[in-house]
Amino acid sequence: MKRWLKWAAVLAGVLAVVAAGAAFAGLQLAERKMQRKVEVDVRPVAFTSDAAALERGRYLYASRGCVDCHGANGGGRTFVEDGESLRIRGPNISPGPGSVVAGYGPGDWVRAIRHGVARGGRPLMIMPSEDYNRFTDADLAALVAYVRALPPAEGGPAIVQLPLPARVLYGFGAIHDAAGKIDHSQPPAQPVPEGVNVAHGAYVANMCLGCHGPQLAGGRIPGGPPDWPAAPNLTPGQGTVMVRYADAESMLRLFRSGKRHDGSEVKVMPFESLKEMSETDVRALHLYLKGLQPKPQG
Ligand code: HEC
Ligand code: HEC
Repeated sequence: MKRWLKWAAVLAGVLAVVAAGAAFAGLQLAERKMQRKVEVDVRPVAFTSDAAALERGRYLYASRGCVDCHGANGGGRTFVEDGESLRIRGPNISPGPGSVVAGYGPGDWVRAIRHGVARGGRPLMIMPSEDYNRFTDADLAALVAYVRALPPAEGGPAIVQLPLPARVLYGFGAIHDAAGKIDHSQPPAQPVPEGVNVAHGAYVANMCLGCHGPQLAGGRIPGGPPDWPAAPNLTPGQGTVMVRYADAESMLRLFRSGKRHDGSEVKVMPFESLKEMSETDVRALHLYLKGLQPKPQG
């Protein structure tokens, strides 16, 4: 055998062992990270059941993504599945059999929704609590009132099966869980007047952060499957998609239909929720996005 061929084979072997070792180390780290205990200073929000809160809670549940992953009845549903190594199912959060929120007190709801941490301190893996951290106390109370009042539905715990590369990246800290992204020391957001104004638009835009990035400048969605397109830049900077949405009407059409002006389908976006968003919320959101400082893509 030629000498260099032999060395190339040895080198390839060494690299394979190093890669397997790194993957193994990454999985170990991931396991440890998933089992870590996250301590947060939770400020409980008192339970309520008044009619206005229930109605507001119904609206938030339907329009802010909960329905996409937990189902309209709260019983949980499988929302990503590639038939191979990827499968994610939201758990049952209704008061029915198999519910994961049985016995949840006021502080437990705040810990899960606002901080991305389960009752015992375990970080939630998939739930985008970074999008929900800025809920005002009143909105959080309304949401919880609605979920607690849901009729009991069947459904079990969450299923979180992630492909090996995603787990290794998580282990090495290239992908973070929501609890790792949230600044837990921030006080709850103060209410702003609901209407077509920039402050309210910024409030609504919180639910876009998990996918479009903390600056709304887009980029690949961390931990998303390889076939997901990158989230585009929503600021008026490089590569922005807002050129297609010069007025609020065009954005309303997108939210209602899930399609661009040319009829092509927009992937990944949670339109089941977004189509429920009120006209006021969409118009305020549009006003806010138009006024953002330009940022480079990603
Ligand atoms: C992208 C999917 C997704 C969205 C959107 C989502 N959840 Fe979840 N949620 C999950 C998954 C998955 C879990 C299981 C834990 C995890 O993240 O690994 C969970 C867990 C929970 C839990 C229970 C935590 C525990 O103790 O196990 C509550 C309560 C909850 N979600 C409420 C909500 C509410 C309310 C909303 C809307 C404001 C919402 N979720 C939006 C996916 C989602
Ligand atoms: C679950 C992730 C996710 C969430 C949540 C999300 N987006 Fe997106 N968004 C995407 C992805 C991915 C694309 C690119 C889709 C494509 O190219 O098919 C996109 C595309 C867009 C587009 C461009 C549509 C076009 O013409 O190509 C706009 C505008 C947009 N999002 C606005 C928003 C706003 C505003 C919010 C919050 C209310 C939001 N998105 C929430 C993932 C998300």
